[in-house]
Amino acid sequence: MTDQPSLVVWKDAYNTGIDLIDEQHKELVSTINSLYSSLSKENKCSALKPAAEMVMKYTKVHFATEFEMMKKSGYPQLQEHHDQHERLIIRADESLHECLKEDGDPTDFLHFLKEWFIIHIVREDKAYSAHLLEYLANQPEEAGGAEA
Ligand SMILES: [Fe+2]
Ligand SMILES: [Fe+2]
Repeated sequence: MTDQPSLVVWKDAYNTGIDLIDEQHKELVSTINSLYSSLSKENKCSALKPAAEMVMKYTKVHFATEFEMMKKSGYPQLQEHHDQHERLIIRADESLHECLKEDGDPTDFLHFLKEWFIIHIVREDKAYSAHLLEYLANQPEEAGGAEA
């Protein structure tokens, strides 16, 4: 096992109970951590550019998955959740851009990624996942309902 530093350590409390979402969240943690470990070579923003772009790309894929799931289950706060995703992407892009402009210390950008990830999952994703689990439990089997 390599002893790579981790920015985000996965906790059971982050699980939503929806397999696909939990897998994607874990993958996101892993991309954020590999971004963080790319700094062990050099503490400059430019050192993490490729990994940061990977995080942003994967985040967009993940947000699209969530959107489809929320839409399918008729989640009443779909629009609010979607707006939050949009704001997070804009803020992350701005933060990365800021960091790259001066090729400065990436601490603010990393801090932002870590904070949004945890706060968004724990507060917002858990709210829609509770709704989605209830929706799935009430679906007939052929529609892919969860076994209560
Ligand atoms: Fe999420
Ligand atoms: Fe979300």
